[in-house]
This record gives sequence, C-alpha cells and structure tokens, in this order.
Amino acid sequence: MNKRKILVTSALPYANGSIHLGHLVEYIQTDIWVRFQKMRGHAVYYVCADDTHGTPIMLRAEKEGITPEALIARVHDEHYDDFTGFHIHFDNYYSTHSDETRHYSEVIYQKLKAAGLITVRGIEQLYDPQRNMFLPDRFVKGECPKCSAKDQYGDSCEVCGAAYTPTELKNPYSAVSGATPVKKSSEHYFFSLSDERCVDFLRRWTRAGHLQPEAANKMHEWLGDAGENKMSDWDISRDAPYFGFEIPDAPGKYFYVWLDAPIGYMGSFKHLCVRENIDFDAYWHRETETELYHFIGKDILYFHALFWPAMLEHSGYRTPTQIFAHGFLTVNGEKMSKSRGTFITAHSYLKQGLNPEWLRYYYAAKLNGSMEDIDLNLDDFIARVNSDLVGKFINIASRCAGFITKRFDGRLVDGEGYKALQQTVDERFSGWRPDAIEQAFEARDFSLAVRLIMKFADEANEMIHTMAPWEIAREAGRDADLQRTCSLGIQLFYLLARYLKPILPETIRQVECFLNCNKLIWPCLAANEPVSQLLLPAGHTIHAYQHLLTRIESKQIDALVAANKQSLSTEQSGATTTAKAVADDKPKTVAPIAGTITIDDFSKIDLRVAEIVNAEHVEGAEKLLKLTLDIGSEQRTVFAGIKSAYDPEQLKGRMTVMVANLAPRQMKFGLSEGMVVAAGNGGKELFILSPDTGAQPGMRVK
Ligand code: MSP
Ligand code: ZN
Repeated sequence: MNKRKILVTSALPYANGSIHLGHLVEYIQTDIWVRFQKMRGHAVYYVCADDTHGTPIMLRAEKEGITPEALIARVHDEHYDDFTGFHIHFDNYYSTHSDETRHYSEVIYQKLKAAGLITVRGIEQLYDPQRNMFLPDRFVKGECPKCSAKDQYGDSCEVCGAAYTPTELKNPYSAVSGATPVKKSSEHYFFSLSDERCVDFLRRWTRAGHLQPEAANKMHEWLGDAGENKMSDWDISRDAPYFGFEIPDAPGKYFYVWLDAPIGYMGSFKHLCVRENIDFDAYWHRETETELYHFIGKDILYFHALFWPAMLEHSGYRTPTQIFAHGFLTVNGEKMSKSRGTFITAHSYLKQGLNPEWLRYYYAAKLNGSMEDIDLNLDDFIARVNSDLVGKFINIASRCAGFITKRFDGRLVDGEGYKALQQTVDERFSGWRPDAIEQAFEARDFSLAVRLIMKFADEANEMIHTMAPWEIAREAGRDADLQRTCSLGIQLFYLLARYLKPILPETIRQVECFLNCNKLIWPCLAANEPVSQLLLPAGHTIHAYQHLLTRIESKQIDALVAANKQSLSTEQSGATTTAKAVADDKPKTVAPIAGTITIDDFSKIDLRVAEIVNAEHVEGAEKLLKLTLDIGSEQRTVFAGIKSAYDPEQLKGRMTVMVANLAPRQMKFGLSEGMVVAAGNGGKELFILSPDTGAQPGMRVK
C-alpha cells in the first residue's frame, strides 16, 4: 500500500470560551477522519492548539485579576479535558503563545516584508481615552447609523443587519469603560493582498481543487473577476496594549491575532516534531509530497482560503492540500441559545453522564462533507442513537453472545461448521466489502458511511431473526446449529465493528476486548478476495458479553438542557421565557406590595452592576455559594443563598446586581460584603437579575 503522510488540523479554539456542542461538530468530524486514516495505516498527525492572543483575552484576564498567561493555561487544560472526554485525540494540543509560533510568525513576516508585500500607513480608529487603548470593532457600541437601534456593536447591527464601521455609530461608547471614544490615528502594518502577485495567485489557487466548489465560489465573489480587483490590503498590526507577539523592529506594534493563529498550526506541529523526531521541513517544504488538510467552520473560510495560502505562498512554504469547511450547528432547528438551554457546553454534557459516543454517532450520521448547517434535533438524537446503535448494532451481539458463552464456553464454530459459515457470508453478505464505506469516509461523507453500515446491520438482524437462535436453543440435539447460528451473528458483528471504529473508538475498544481479538484496522481486500477472509478464525474464543452501550433516556436530555439554561440579558426574549416557563406551571402567589417609600428612602440603597468573576461551592454550606463580584472599583466576596438554583459554573462571567452598601456580615464561612438580589420563592425557583448588555461592573442602578 502507498503510505500517505498526512498532517491534519482543526481550527484553534479561542482561549476565552468553553468548548460547546457547536465546536464539537468540527473536532469530532476531524477526529473521525483522522482515526479512519490511521486505521488504514497512513502516517497521520493531527495537531491543534488554543488560539490565545487578542484583546478579548487580554481584557478577560484583566477582569479576572490574573495574567493572560494564567488565563490561557487554565483554559488550555479545560479545553484539553473536554476534547479528551469526547475521545478526540490530538497528536499534539498546544498553544499559539509559544516560542515555535512566535518564530514562524517572525519568519513569515520577514519573508513577506522582503518580498515587498508589507506596507505601513496611518489609519484612524476609535480610541478609549479612559483606558488608553484602541477599541476593536466589537468593543465599541452605540446606535445603529441606519435604524438607530441602541447598543449595537461597532461592525454590524443585530436589528437591521446593516454593516458599517465603528466610526459611523451614533453616540458611541466604549464597551470596556463606558467612556466616549475619540478618533485617533496610528501607524498600521498591512499585508498587501491587493498586490497583483497575491490576487493572481489566489485566482489560480482557489480554482485548483483545494476548496469545496461552494467555497471556491464564495472566494471568487470576494476576489472579483479578472481585472476587477476587489481585494484590499489586510491590516496585520495592533497597537499596545495587546496580548500577542510584538512585531520585529516595530516597538509597541503587535501581530493581529489572526496573523499568528494559523501559524499556530505550524507551531504545534513543530513542537510535536521535536518531541517525536519528525522532519518538520519535509511537511512544509514547497515541493513536499505530504498532504496538509485544514478542517474549519465556514465562518473562517476567508482567513484559511485567502489570507493563509497567500501568506504561505509568498513566504516560500507549501500551501494546504485542501481546506474542508463545514456548516454551523443548530439545535432543534435554531441557533444555540443560552436561555433555551441549547447552548450546551462539552463539559456539562460529560458532567451529566451522557455518553460522548452518542454525539459522535449522531454528528457522523449528519455530516456529509458539505458546508450545509447541521441540526441536532434532540428528539431525533434520542431516537436515532437508540434505534441504530443499541437496536441494530449492539443487538446483534447481545442476542448471540450469551449462548456462545453459556453453551460453548465462548468458542465459535470450527471445522465443517466454520466452512459453512464462510460460505454463507460470501453468498449472503458479499456486499459487505469495505470499498463503498471507505470511499464515503475518505470523502467525509460520514452520513453515507453510516447509512451503509446500518443497512448491513439490518441485513444481519434479519438473518438472525429468521434463524432465531433462541428457538433453536430450546430444541434438543441442535447444539451444532445453535453454535453455527450464534457464531455467524458474532462474526457479522465483528465485521461491522471495524467500520464503526472511527466513529465509536471507545465502544469498539470494548468490543475488541469482548471478542478477544487484535486491534481492528481498516480491512484491505483485493478484488478477488472474498469477504469471509476478514472473519475471526475458526474456533476462536470470545469473552462473556458485557453491556456495551446503553440507551439514551429522554430525562437525561431534559436534565442536560436544564443544566445549560441561563437567563441572559443578551437574549432578552429568551430570558423572560425562562422565568415565565417556570412560573406558568404553578399557581401564582404574588406577595402584596410593600408600604410606600420616598425616592430618598430608595436612594439609600446603593445597587451596583456586578460581574460574577468567580463562583464556588462552600464546604459544609447547604444553601450558599461563594461569589466574587467585580463592581469596577473593587472586588467583593458575597455568600449568596442560591445554591439550590444555580450551578457555580453557570454563574461565572455573568453580570448581575448587588446591594453594595449593606453592612458586611460575618458568617460561619467568612465575611459577606454585600448581597445579590434575586426574585422567586426559593428552592429551584430563584432568579438573580441581569442588566441589559452594555452595562459595566460598578454602574449604579438607580
Ligand atoms: N480562533 C479561531 C480559529 C483560528 S484557526 C487558525 C476561531 N475560534 S472559535 O473558537 O470561534 O471556533 C473554532 C472552530 O469551531 C471554528 O472552525 C468554528 O467555525 C467552529 N465552530 C464554532 N461554533 C460553531 C458552531 N456553532 N457550529 C459549528 N462549528 C462551530 O474561530
Ligand atoms: Zn440597525
């Protein structure tokens, strides 16, 4: 066999957020493909890393009162654990904040500069005079220049969909400090993408089979027709303060995060190469015969199909063999939503005790290698996994294994019986050759692979059903028949298991133990070799059947959704329904309105917007959570009696409202410096408040 050398990447997740089920579409897709290629015996390296640079990460660390390095180290571990929990196996999971990535960023930059493709010019941007920093588009808010909707981001309006620049916003304010931004100019470094060399190259490259046809078309819209140069130069620098790599010979200027992010693929691979003695250059050299594949979401196609190949091409490196873009995940047909509980984190899925392979299977059944969005319909998820995996696949083994263990000491048929079995397989199951499934996996059409595998499983079940071993078992003197029938079932199960291995690595590992066989690899059948070639040997002994996979119960999914439910002011309509849904179930008991007070009475209460920067359980406390609240000028510790309704993880990073001038109270567990206000009758029915988007820690509620 021709052994391919393949380097595969998934996009590098940002180091300031948790992995959620949307991300997992990508990492599961890539992992299945990589496992498939490894099973075929190809040399495959799968690398990834956290994408650690940029303003959001810098500000988040600042808010948490830690260094960006500490933040990215913590998130790196969380991400790694989430991926491992879903059996996503990287050969290296690194960080872009590394010497290797810095090195290649500098090399590529210097080469582009030497090629005359870096230009410097002044640009005017919004600047936060209070925080002394330039504001990225997403950190400027204000009124939409088109429809005047309030609190819109600096790049586009969520109400009318208009796109604009932050300087066009009416009444702009800094989302960092609330201050009114001023215009200020500074020098920026640009990668000259509009240079003819880049445009010509990209025109060719995007049509040379490296992209899915739909992606190629999209890129051509960006590039425009020949003669009509639509590309603009790409601003690759940011001014201090910025968490990233300083540009060589440009003090105070940093590489924009998207410059070093894809270079992080090289950085992570280099780190692996040093550890495992792999020839890095052999993979990145221009004339290389190795293959390079990037799995990405369609939202970042622009960076991977235009900027990245242009950077590589003009700095003397190889370009990607192919870019594989996938669509976005919806849950129950809608965008994932925190208020509906469908913004499900990888961590919560695992913590609720759900089997990661259920999701791997479901995604596989939906992914077809195109850029279409995929929907996780939660009812369909339950039905599909239960009927396919438990009802069809596992069923084959569970119906046959017991007899083999109890009546034949675990031994499968041999001698004449084995020959007859081989013949049955070749006559009745000759279509079970790996070819079509292999092509489907190769083309990332996992949904086709799954359909084929399940068609085989149906055939196996029909066969077992007709032969009815449970009836044979009741008749005296039919031991040989029983052994042959059950052996056939086990052998068919064995054949199917390997086709499912890229999707269900853990279950199939257990199957390998149960069947007492070698690690399953991808079968290689010459055209003239029969399928029976792939069977376990005559007289092979298996172990007793152990439960392999359980059914999903709908209450598990309900609990998962409940655990992810959050009332967020950013999703106002959803937020109110959360509280309403709970309230509607119960007879309404509304407390009578309290006695009248004056405005002066009210203003004695100093209510402040607070960010919950940390939330944790208190050892020994039944009702309390310990919250660390940021109120702008300082951080407060508050013990809040909301444990019955909130999981601390859910609270971290949320905004709420606190009474800031309540006399501190010494409690058994420590000093409580204020109070968080909440509505509801207690127990599960407790609702803390959220301010509208844009409110900043420390703002007074009055
Ligand atoms: N940091 C950048 C990628 C840099 S690659 C050099 C980034 N990070 S991300 O965390 O926002 O997304 C990581 C990957 O997950 C992206 O490919 C993105 O498309 C994918 N997904 C994030 N949310 C998704 C869905 N809801 N559905 C499917 N994929 C999604 O982008
Ligand atoms: Zn608008």
